[in-house]
Amino acid sequence: MDKIKITGGKCLEGKIYISGAKNAALPLICASLLTDETVTLTNMPMLSDIKAMNALLEQLGTQIDEFDDFVDNHPSKTYSYRTKEATSLTAPYDYVRKMRASYYVLGPLLARYGKCELSLPGGCAIGARPMDIHLSSLEQMGASIEIKNGYIHAKVDKRLKGAHIIFPMVSVGATCNVLMAATLAEGRTVLENAAKEPEIGDLANLLNAMGAKIEGIGTAVLTIDGVDKLHGAKHKVIADRIEAGSYAVAAAITRGKIELINALPSTLKRPMQVLRDMGVRVTENENSILVDAKGCTLVGKDIMTEPFPGFPTDLQAQFLALMLTAEGASMITETIFENRFMHVPELLRMGANINVHGHASAIVRGVKKLSGAPVMATDLRASFALILAGLVAEGETIVNRVYHLDRGYEKLEEKLRGVGAQIERIKDDSEG
Ligand code: EPZ
Repeated sequence: MDKIKITGGKCLEGKIYISGAKNAALPLICASLLTDETVTLTNMPMLSDIKAMNALLEQLGTQIDEFDDFVDNHPSKTYSYRTKEATSLTAPYDYVRKMRASYYVLGPLLARYGKCELSLPGGCAIGARPMDIHLSSLEQMGASIEIKNGYIHAKVDKRLKGAHIIFPMVSVGATCNVLMAATLAEGRTVLENAAKEPEIGDLANLLNAMGAKIEGIGTAVLTIDGVDKLHGAKHKVIADRIEAGSYAVAAAITRGKIELINALPSTLKRPMQVLRDMGVRVTENENSILVDAKGCTLVGKDIMTEPFPGFPTDLQAQFLALMLTAEGASMITETIFENRFMHVPELLRMGANINVHGHASAIVRGVKKLSGAPVMATDLRASFALILAGLVAEGETIVNRVYHLDRGYEKLEEKLRGVGAQIERIKDDSEG
């Protein structure tokens, strides 16, 4: 199993190109199931989660073609998806257990074929993550849903029907799933308390390009007038705000200076404000962000995760690591997931001073130094937090279970080496 070895202490400087967003690409791929024509997605990140979603669609009967491409002068992948006729309407356990986002096939298959069987994803490393809001919303649109043998059996007579749905809490996944389903429903669907994450705007833009009628994009109320049929389209995946935010922290934690090429400032307002409040110089340009922490003394700052445009839960672990190098104390409050401090015990092993209170908050006190250690994390963003700690720790840090990072950070070592980090991937048969 691969590991990543980092020798800390290098000040990172240079440019990093930000890839297409994983969490946009995953529902975009599934949107292609809504039409029998070809949907082409450019600026696709090369990640194991994308490969996993492609494998699921192939299993459903989608013809997928892959092309090497150049977007904004950078190599990337373009994929075209065509589901002339689905050959299966089942997302099996083996696919869903590897990647929860497999549940994005539910809305499209139910809308186009009136039926879908999806293995119910269980809890995961960051929380219980139920699907009740997805399911109750689809029921409000006329679907009948039964859970049997670990599978969701969803079906509808003829077509889904438009409905006025008020989400009981903000859910990215439920908003995407129901939005896709509503495009082919009969009549108007109104989604209130919808998630406003930029990835949802990206999905809605693709759906409109396919002939859907969605209004209110970027707001908490989405209005969808169902159409009889959608057609093919070509779409460029938006830049990954979480990848950009993660490398912004890499600049700040090493007191370096990194220009994040292709990052979208409008998607990162809150995290960039936190960096400024801590004492980092952040310059936002139209298609890039310059993060300059050279010579800066950083001060701790309190953070609370919230749905967009609030501070993203997917950057909580990385900013927590940054607070370890700031003066004073910072309180980190996690409101989205109930088990998202799994990086803390590993950071403690590197010399961190962190007290977790219950499941919801942690007090981080700045320390003079961290020291390298073998560590491992249980999820993607927590793993990146350990990489960040390794970049400033004295000596060598070995991050185990690199497969988490491969799910969401394209060319991680290459990008970090490009700005001066001493980092390499090592092969090892035994898991640490
Ligand atoms: C998406 O997960 C992202 N995943 C997550 O990214 C991200 O952390 C999360 O949104 C929040 O921004 C993808 O886009 C593939 P939610 P999702 O539904 O859609 C509860 C990463 O590292 N809830 O917005 O699963 C849920 O348990 C990750 O890339 C219900 O109770 O998140 C959570 O507490 C991990 N019932 C809260 O809502 C439901 O039916 C928000 O979850 C649905 C959700």
